[in-house]
Amino acid sequence: MNKKPTPERETSVSERVRSQYTAAPFPPVSYFPVVSGPPQHRTWLYSFTEIYYHAFRKLRNPAGARLLDAGCGTGHGVHQIRHLAPGAEVHACDFSPSSLAIARQRIEALGGEPVTFHELDLLDLRKLPGKFDAIFCSGVVHHTADPVRALQELKSKLKPDGVLYLMLYSQFGRRPTMLMQRAIKMLSRNPKDQQEGLQVGRMLFDALPSTNPIATWEREKWSDNHRAHPEAFIDMYVNANEKNYSIREVYADLAAAGLQFVRFDKPQLWQLGARMNLPQELQARFQALPALGQYEVIEHLFPDRDQYMFMVTHAGKPPALPAWLVRGSLAGLEHRFTATRSTFIAEINPTTPQPGFSYWSGYFEVLTQLDTLTRDLLDRCDGKGSVADVIASWEKAHGPLVQGRGAEFIRMLEARGLVYLSEIATPPAAIIPLPVPAKPKAATGKPATRKAAKRPPEKPVKKPAKLKPSSRSARRKRR
Ligand SMILES: C[S@@+](CC[C@H](N)C(=O)[O-])C[C@H]1O[C@@H](n2cnc3c(N)ncnc32)[C@H](O)[C@@H]1O
Repeated sequence: MNKKPTPERETSVSERVRSQYTAAPFPPVSYFPVVSGPPQHRTWLYSFTEIYYHAFRKLRNPAGARLLDAGCGTGHGVHQIRHLAPGAEVHACDFSPSSLAIARQRIEALGGEPVTFHELDLLDLRKLPGKFDAIFCSGVVHHTADPVRALQELKSKLKPDGVLYLMLYSQFGRRPTMLMQRAIKMLSRNPKDQQEGLQVGRMLFDALPSTNPIATWEREKWSDNHRAHPEAFIDMYVNANEKNYSIREVYADLAAAGLQFVRFDKPQLWQLGARMNLPQELQARFQALPALGQYEVIEHLFPDRDQYMFMVTHAGKPPALPAWLVRGSLAGLEHRFTATRSTFIAEINPTTPQPGFSYWSGYFEVLTQLDTLTRDLLDRCDGKGSVADVIASWEKAHGPLVQGRGAEFIRMLEARGLVYLSEIATPPAAIIPLPVPAKPKAATGKPATRKAAKRPPEKPVKKPAKLKPSSRSARRKRR
């Protein structure tokens, strides 16, 4: 399925994929109607503020940022990107003219700020002018003839401190899809004829017993959406070209393109301790594995995710992490940070859940799980005072029940994506000069500044013993 890329193969794959998505634009309008005004369904993964914060742990105002939806399809993503980033310069590209036409209609129906559309092959992305602060590329790279080259093109358009959001297929969660794809091919007279594939596939689904695992998967995970919408069926079961990844292959393709993985959309799903009760000995062995090894164990034990959704930056430049994250605790640093409720909370629209897209409501689920005490703490995170002030007022309001637990609760809210923590800028007058190095430069052979930078970090603060919202993610070696 993933043959060696050559220029001829690239052209023929691009042509086949382009004609598929031109004849069957995705996602179909029957599934995502063009509505006037803001998008009905929203995910934080299309919010520049959110993905930038979660990649770099820094708050950035979207105004003035340059954003690109690469492979925008019929535009449900760029509709959200535009709505969620006022003042940003938004671009979108795709090589399917019919999909672009629908995406344009969506943006016109939204009203307000524009989006610049480009009809372009992802493998020619360098032709676009300028670089971007964030690129969103969902479900596109794996349809190209040469995913590494597609990733290199994306990298070439990413600013040095930019963030790339990617969605790639997982071969583990997509096992039912891959099996059905093969069965359809074997039973088709012409396996390249997608219309015939659609007919054969529908006949198969109609005839499968309801208890069949593929039928169950389609019904339970996707509410039979693919069976209801022909364009979606073609995208899922008779696609002209796709690569289904393992997490190791994701890492390999990123590395080959000079990119590096930063974090998954839901890091908690990639922590074994959060998903099962493991005997201590096995837990210790698991913890000793590098991050990639841990992810591999998890995808073998929990082959339930059919898509990897994650953030990526340029390789070699891991984002500088704030002190609280390096220490794994906010305790002792509360006066140096502010806590601000995520702007995305206001965007959550629980009244219109989309069948088959349960992950979209993830944020809402997290919010509804909060007890009233935690909810009250969240409401106090207005970004004005320091975290120390927020905690003091919260602990005072709720008495002994929460005494001494504020820092850990704020940390838990941050880990769940409900608050941003930002360092309070120190006024210049209050900057305390670094102590002068004890030895002169000549004696150490190293510049004084490097030496200062090498000082060990502040001593870790010991965690309180029995706190409920433990921050496992902070303890992992690498995010
Ligand atoms: C599965 S759809 C995803 C659409 C959208 N990003 C989303 O998440 O709904 C894949 C899209 O990628 C586009 N695409 C695939 N290969 C491409 C390429 N080489 N260059 C440009 N667009 C491509 C297709 O035309 C299609 O619109």
